[in-house]
Amino acid sequence: MRSTAPRAATPRRYLMCPPAHFKVTYSINPWMDPAKPVDIPLALAQWEDLRDRYLALGHTVEELEPRPGLPDMVFAANGATVVDGRVLGARFAHPERTAEAAIHAAWFREQGYADVLEPEHINEGEGDFAVTASWLLAGRGFRSSPLSHPEAQEFFGRPVIGLDLVDPRYYHLDTALCVLDDTTDGEIMYYPGAFSAGSREVLRRLFPDALIASEEDASALGLNAVSDGRHVLLPQAAVGLFEPLRARGYEPIGMDLGELLKGGGSVKCCTQELRG
Ligand code: ARG
Repeated sequence: MRSTAPRAATPRRYLMCPPAHFKVTYSINPWMDPAKPVDIPLALAQWEDLRDRYLALGHTVEELEPRPGLPDMVFAANGATVVDGRVLGARFAHPERTAEAAIHAAWFREQGYADVLEPEHINEGEGDFAVTASWLLAGRGFRSSPLSHPEAQEFFGRPVIGLDLVDPRYYHLDTALCVLDDTTDGEIMYYPGAFSAGSREVLRRLFPDALIASEEDASALGLNAVSDGRHVLLPQAAVGLFEPLRARGYEPIGMDLGELLKGGGSVKCCTQELRG
């Protein structure tokens, strides 16, 4: 039987980048429609709400300075993957975002991180890498190269479990899967429809007790969520996830990041976790 006891939150350190220059001027995922205007003050207010919520929960938020001409920089999760204090930099699939990788790598160096790898193969950071207690779950199919998986395994010394994404709406792993408790290897939620048949079977084997999201909640980007082990911050429109999360002892917190959804991202995309 799964435990329903209240969960324990642990303090986290996050890296975020305010959407001061956010826009949708190009389209690199099916959510992006350059014809739809973006309300920057509203995007900033929604982003500040998320940041303030992390702070109120006792987490630390570092801020990366936004640059004009890099409208997707607000999606800070894509800039690197940090585990045990080691930083695997990103290499973006699309030229529109290429310059973000060096900005992240420079930030880590300035902060005194000694182990920063600028990778050979395309990986979009935590967009496609998710961290459980001992594994790295790794998406491929739309952005990160399959070759980035062995590269990450070698760098972190953690087994990488490759997962094939097949639905363009769920172009990054973090749009379809979320680790709820990273002190175990068992607690995730995901939307099976985003994955190939073989990857669905892998997920069933490794996570028999996972919370399975409906298509409706997945398409509200409900899986683009951040958990501190107890509080789960997720898009408020993913209403079907709230009760199942509570039943497992989590405390769901609905966020409105409607403006950023126009870029194809939500809570998780805006949040890079600095581990160790
Ligand atoms: N417009 C951005 C892109 O297509 C959104 C990135 C969302 N980030 C994420 N971690 N899923 O690259």
